[in-house]
Amino acid sequence: MATILITGAARGLGYELARQLAGRGHRVLATCRDPRRADTLRAAADASGGTLTVHAMDVGSTESVKACRAEIGDMPVDILVNNAGVWGGLPGQVLGSMDYDNWAHELNIMLMGPFRVVESFLPNILASGAGRIVSITSQTAAHSYDHVVGYAYASAKAGTNRVMTALAQELGCKGVTVVLLHPGWIRTEMAGAVADLEPDEAAAMNIAVIEGLTPADNGKFLKWTGDEHAW
Ligand SMILES: NC(=O)c1ccc[n+]([C@@H]2O[C@H](COP(=O)([O-])OP(=O)(O)OC[C@H]3O[C@@H](n4cnc5c(N)ncnc54)[C@H](OP(=O)(O)O)[C@@H]3O)[C@@H](O)[C@H]2O)c1
Repeated sequence: MATILITGAARGLGYELARQLAGRGHRVLATCRDPRRADTLRAAADASGGTLTVHAMDVGSTESVKACRAEIGDMPVDILVNNAGVWGGLPGQVLGSMDYDNWAHELNIMLMGPFRVVESFLPNILASGAGRIVSITSQTAAHSYDHVVGYAYASAKAGTNRVMTALAQELGCKGVTVVLLHPGWIRTEMAGAVADLEPDEAAAMNIAVIEGLTPADNGKFLKWTGDEHAW
């Protein structure tokens, strides 16, 4: 059994990861922006017999991340899943109509957010002795992805990839495994009904990857299938 902290767990992939991981016997610290509005997540916590707890954390706010760390205290965290993400829509992030406020927001949530959480919770991750940091990224971050991308979203995810590979280099010698995970194209609010995978089946496949990580995976960019993703 591992202690697993997940960001953005109120809905979508994050909710399914939290629900299923708790069902598999892990201790899940499910964080979300506003627990009062996270009815489904709170119901999962009530049904979990105490293995899933809900904590407030806005990854876009250093103050909020620090407050969550203070609430959780020194509890060792075996796996951190940086899942929280935003998609501001395509029209405001293409050449000719860039919404720069949205770009800054996406960078704050998906590039600085995961770093903020790692920085605050590093003592907890080191206390695990074999901590794993899994950042949910995207195929759009890859140079090899040759479709039209939203510049804001793709640059935030590409930035995360770079920051996390640097953290892999810095933390690998301390026993921490840092991995990037493209979770598949999932029918959540972000991707919509046209996507490939239901959230529950995507979560199950991503969990198989997460549970199977070893130090040999440090610095890798993986897919939900467990295969390596092209950079
Ligand atoms: N769906 C896909 O096909 C797909 C593909 C590749 C990568 N991804 C990535 O997978 C992750 C999960 O996406 P999803 O599809 O589940 O999207 P989603 O359904 O839109 O859920 C996004 C989650 O992120 C949370 N969030 C947003 N801003 C936050 C903040 N400032 N602090 C904390 N939480 C915040 C949301 O919380 P609220 O409920 O409070 O808004 C929500 O729980 C994201 O990183 C996304 O980029 C998704």
